[in-house]
Amino acid sequence: MSTRRKPPAALTARNADRHALYEASVQRPTVIVGFIEELFEQVRDRQPVTLREDFCGTAHLSSTWVRSGPDRWAIGVDLDPEVLDWAEQHNCLPLAEDAERLTLTQGDVMAVSDKADALVSLNFSHWVYHEREQLLAYLKHAHACIEPGGIFVCDAFGGPASITPCVDERKFSDFDYQWEQVGFDPLTHRTRCAIHFKFRNGSTMRNAFEYDWRMWSLPEIQELLVEAGFGQLGIYFESEDGFIADFEEVDDEAWVAYVVALRD
Ligand SMILES: C[S@@+](CC[C@H](N)C(=O)[O-])C[C@H]1O[C@@H](n2cnc3c(N)ncnc32)[C@H](O)[C@@H]1O
Repeated sequence: MSTRRKPPAALTARNADRHALYEASVQRPTVIVGFIEELFEQVRDRQPVTLREDFCGTAHLSSTWVRSGPDRWAIGVDLDPEVLDWAEQHNCLPLAEDAERLTLTQGDVMAVSDKADALVSLNFSHWVYHEREQLLAYLKHAHACIEPGGIFVCDAFGGPASITPCVDERKFSDFDYQWEQVGFDPLTHRTRCAIHFKFRNGSTMRNAFEYDWRMWSLPEIQELLVEAGFGQLGIYFESEDGFIADFEEVDDEAWVAYVVALRD
């Protein structure tokens, strides 16, 4: 008697896992690992060993870091026990014995003092700080948590499309990803955004993720990094093939930038 495997159930709003959808549609961890390696090679002529991923969410980047070399260690920090539990199941356990090189810490990034060669805050996580003093305090803390000769990387988005209420859609094989710019206050730069997922059976997972951020400009971030004690700064823009330093080549309607700061 032959046993036939059931085909996997089609994705719907009811059975889909929002963290898995987020990882598939938003993150490119191997690209970021390559970017950090390249930066270190350029500015330090050596390779980093430790990564600290602040606001790590599912710790997809941290686990990719650990996989990228047998001597590499990572620490992921997040406040939310639910997402860290998911990270443990989906990104830590599959590392098997290499999981000993990945530490997940539940807590406020400001209360964690572990140091690393590279410290990152990605997908605009540091935009959770609405006040200048708060972001400055975070950047000073990040500086103190980077080993001498290490680097800090954070991102920012901008362009006219990012301050206009709109929905940007990208298609994947079994779902559509939607990024909604819900509102923007020009007086405070408070920006509210949401991620929705739409499925082939017509169902929608609305507000799978919601954000209440302050949109920080590139000059503001650079000024704060200098004030926090960082040395040389660099800005790179995301492109299909990687990162470009020349804004002339960037889609100026909507861009994502990576600000890199060196710790002496
Ligand atoms: C936008 S998600 C970013 C996820 C991930 N960094 C990425 O690149 O996709 C922001 C995460 O920051 C966490 N978070 C917010 N405030 C925090 C804080 N003060 N300390 C630690 N984690 C925090 C949230 O729980 C959430 O998982």
